[in-house]
Amino acid sequence: MLNEKVSALLNEQVNKELYSAYLYLEFSNFYTEQGLDGFANWYRIQAQEERDHAMLFVDYMHQNGAKVTYEAIDKPEAKLNENIDPLKAGLEHEIYVTGLINTIYDAAHSVKDYRTMQFLDWFVKEQGEEEANASELVKKMELYGSDARGLYLLDSELSGRVYSAPSLTI
Ligand code: FEO
Repeated sequence: MLNEKVSALLNEQVNKELYSAYLYLEFSNFYTEQGLDGFANWYRIQAQEERDHAMLFVDYMHQNGAKVTYEAIDKPEAKLNENIDPLKAGLEHEIYVTGLINTIYDAAHSVKDYRTMQFLDWFVKEQGEEEANASELVKKMELYGSDARGLYLLDSELSGRVYSAPSLTI
């Protein structure tokens, strides 16, 4: 059985991951409306990944006899005006999510829940990659985004992203 606090944090994380998906769908809409279909594609796929993350938490909880409760998902809160805004908000959001994962890790560690720590190891690594990807997008937009040709090429690059299922299975 999972510790009560650890279980509550895992359940909260399900909601946070679904919120992440919702936020990235909002970003995707923004870019579609700007005519930047490559960026829209990138975030649509990112939203799929976030849903996968939520399901990994759900599966892990079920596997360990915990009850999963789906709570209401917040409306995405992000002020999107410039093309770079979603990228900056995305990076900020991923840093926030890393903090959430670390908090669950701390809670698991404090009750010697090594199984949950091992489960979370995948997310610790994943967050490192997600922050790096988000940071790279901000940098590229800062470098090339103000030039029409640069923006076109960047959008074309991002249109090539394809979905792949997470490497972690429960
Ligand atoms: Fe589920 Fe982008 O972290």
